[in-house]
Amino acid sequence: MTDSNMLPQRRNALRFLASVPILPLFAATSTSLLTACGDSFAMASGPTDPVYWDAVRKLYAVNTQISNLENGYWGVMTERVRLEFQAKNDMINRDNTLYARGSFGADAEAVRVKLAEAVGASKEEIAFTRGATEALQLLIAGYNQLKAGDTVVYSDLDYDSMQYAMEWLKERRGVNVVKFAIPEPATRAAVLQAYQKALADNPSTKLLLLTHISHRTGLVMPVAEIAAMARARGVDTILDAAHSWGQLDFKVADLGVDFVGFNLHKWIGAPLGLGFLYIKQGRLAAIDRAYGDMDFAATDVRSRVHTGTTNFATLLTLPMALAVHAEIGPKAKADRLVYLRDYWVNRVSGLPNLEILTPNEPGMYAGITSFRFAGKVSSADNTAIVTELRDQHGVLTVRRGGVAKGHCIRVSPALYTTEADLDKLVLGLTAISKRLAT
Ligand SMILES: Cc1ncc(COP(=O)(O)O)c(C=O)c1O
Repeated sequence: MTDSNMLPQRRNALRFLASVPILPLFAATSTSLLTACGDSFAMASGPTDPVYWDAVRKLYAVNTQISNLENGYWGVMTERVRLEFQAKNDMINRDNTLYARGSFGADAEAVRVKLAEAVGASKEEIAFTRGATEALQLLIAGYNQLKAGDTVVYSDLDYDSMQYAMEWLKERRGVNVVKFAIPEPATRAAVLQAYQKALADNPSTKLLLLTHISHRTGLVMPVAEIAAMARARGVDTILDAAHSWGQLDFKVADLGVDFVGFNLHKWIGAPLGLGFLYIKQGRLAAIDRAYGDMDFAATDVRSRVHTGTTNFATLLTLPMALAVHAEIGPKAKADRLVYLRDYWVNRVSGLPNLEILTPNEPGMYAGITSFRFAGKVSSADNTAIVTELRDQHGVLTVRRGGVAKGHCIRVSPALYTTEADLDKLVLGLTAISKRLAT
């Protein structure tokens, strides 16, 4: 359908979308924030500001049949992003290869520049992937500094497919693979000591896999300290930042890690199927080209990824997702998620048989936190509790396994989560706790 034979309503809608600026969430106040384009927007007066967070909540259209506290799988798009995605998809389908073989290359580069700026990298340090899995598999498999007999180290809290990739290095590179358990309670001191010990006990270690925010428990690792500790021993770190950027407010240089895998469909709110890898300037040679890529020069980071035909619309929607993320405010967003986590944790932390798996130490948690009832460590135990919370209390959570001390249940709020949603969780946990205690 060309522009001229499009239904007037639809044409207007697309014109509107194409021209729509990022609108202020509500009228500017005295604490207004200047964006890059010079418009002024209101800022949250804090993580509890009801007017602001209500306006943010209205950016989303989600099923409210249940209080969905399982937003760790991925992050739903705001309506603005969803409509942009729809418009880009329509354009791709209409303009087809005329567009893909035409201006897509330049457009994709422009998106890469925007992303680099947002994450605090140069564009020469980042390349798009379909998600964190692809990014991290390419980094782990492509890391060419290992020789037979070296050691690589990872922990029980790392993501399953990254654990598989680390184990596979035994076959691929002839290395020893060491897995250790993160202690519980996972205080900052205990975590640092565990990494110190894992590295000291394995002096031939050359590569460490580290996860910024655990998808199992929500624990936030003190990445910069651990990476510095590793570097002091000549150990490179590959960081899994699938859950962190967007949930936490940081720039990639703050992490002090040379190799990082990100996704953009969890906490940045881009359409599903988008991520990127970061290789610090000067370290490209440590990662092989992806499957011998020859589309790009060996000195170009894009040669470290070879995805094939990409989802053009997903990539083209990223600027809108980044703009909404910036408008809500990365720090305000991170603070709000911490507030939501504290809200329910503070209300249940007196329950005698409930273990909260992130410590109440600033910096060691963000929005996600898991719990476990004492002694309830099996998959079946925790699945039963997830079911009870869903069916009796109207709250959706998810069981997570793979933690050395036993299965647990993850609570992942989103920006559309209300205190009332969390009250339901608190009621449910209190009821289960009472029953288990009798
Ligand atoms: C810690 C962690 N790493 C990696 C991934 C994989 O991310 P993606 O879905 O972007 O491939 C996930 C997804 O849940 C995750 O939680």
